[in-house]
Amino acid sequence: MKLSKLLLSAIALSISTLSFAQTPPEATLAAPPAPKADQIVLKFSSVTSGATPKGLAAEFFAKRAGELTKGKVKVEVYHSSKLFKDKEEFDALLQNKVHFLAPSVGKFGPFGVPEYEVFGLPYLFENTEKLYKVTDGKIGKDLFNKLEVKGMLGLAYWDNGFKSFSANSPLRKPSDFQGKIFRVQDTKVLEDQMKSLSARPVAMAFAEMFPALQTGVADGAENPHSNFLSEKLPDAQRYLTVSDHGYLGYAVVVNADYWKALPTDIREPLESAMKEATIYERKISSESNDKALKEIIATGKVKVYNLTQAEKDVLKTSWNPVYENIEKQLGMSFMESLYKEVGR
Ligand code: LMR
Repeated sequence: MKLSKLLLSAIALSISTLSFAQTPPEATLAAPPAPKADQIVLKFSSVTSGATPKGLAAEFFAKRAGELTKGKVKVEVYHSSKLFKDKEEFDALLQNKVHFLAPSVGKFGPFGVPEYEVFGLPYLFENTEKLYKVTDGKIGKDLFNKLEVKGMLGLAYWDNGFKSFSANSPLRKPSDFQGKIFRVQDTKVLEDQMKSLSARPVAMAFAEMFPALQTGVADGAENPHSNFLSEKLPDAQRYLTVSDHGYLGYAVVVNADYWKALPTDIREPLESAMKEATIYERKISSESNDKALKEIIATGKVKVYNLTQAEKDVLKTSWNPVYENIEKQLGMSFMESLYKEVGR
């Protein structure tokens, strides 16, 4: 980096640090303890609750970031869209209003990296080993490079888990979905997934899901169990079908220029804290979802049904057009490299 660019980055860093340290958080938030005068305050924004794998790992990262930087950095975690909703988060990161995000990877599709939508393809990953071959291999790295062109740097891939469908009537076969309105994340793959079942997808922010289900704007949704429980969906959905049909995972991203301008003695410990948080997150994600399913059953409000393999196979066949569409969109060369990793 040229000296003038370095100086500019350093000035930008000190100005933004100053403003983060001095600007009180939004009035609606409980005020976090005041930072020390020379402390860098970094904000981690998340749309899910603190009880989810993402929420727990963000808190773990914040703790380790403080310890490993010996108190020079304070990471404040804002859960449940308290700072920003899905789309706003991206602009906020690029404007340095927040410093860490962990959006579901599919949300990078509308942001200009459509390859990330493949992670939502129904029944693409048989298990997490196959998933990690993609995230931790060449494809995962290439996709991070694509994010950098957009001004973001990918630090890690975090898991949530596999999704289940929910509604106020049983969902076992394609005709059960027909005509129903399903809240989905704003991705083409998930819209296609629902259209292939003759359902009507409606893309909306995560924070809007519960009110939409409660008021009948949407009939159903798809979520890992930790999100289903923490968003209080047992109060709005009477049937949950354990289908494990699609993966939901995250990319932890930072503003590329901001991150690169951080002094090495700050950035390196933060990278170490992120490595530790990633190990922790991957360890707890499936445990949290198993635990959440037990708690959902314990509410007594939701009838839980496990799809049989034969029922899964019928759904799988209905979703062939979803694959055909994305193959046309992204090209066979990329798709074949993906299929090779997952053994499809
Ligand atoms: C969703 O919008 O359903 C998820 O991406 C929420 C999340 O971050 O887990």
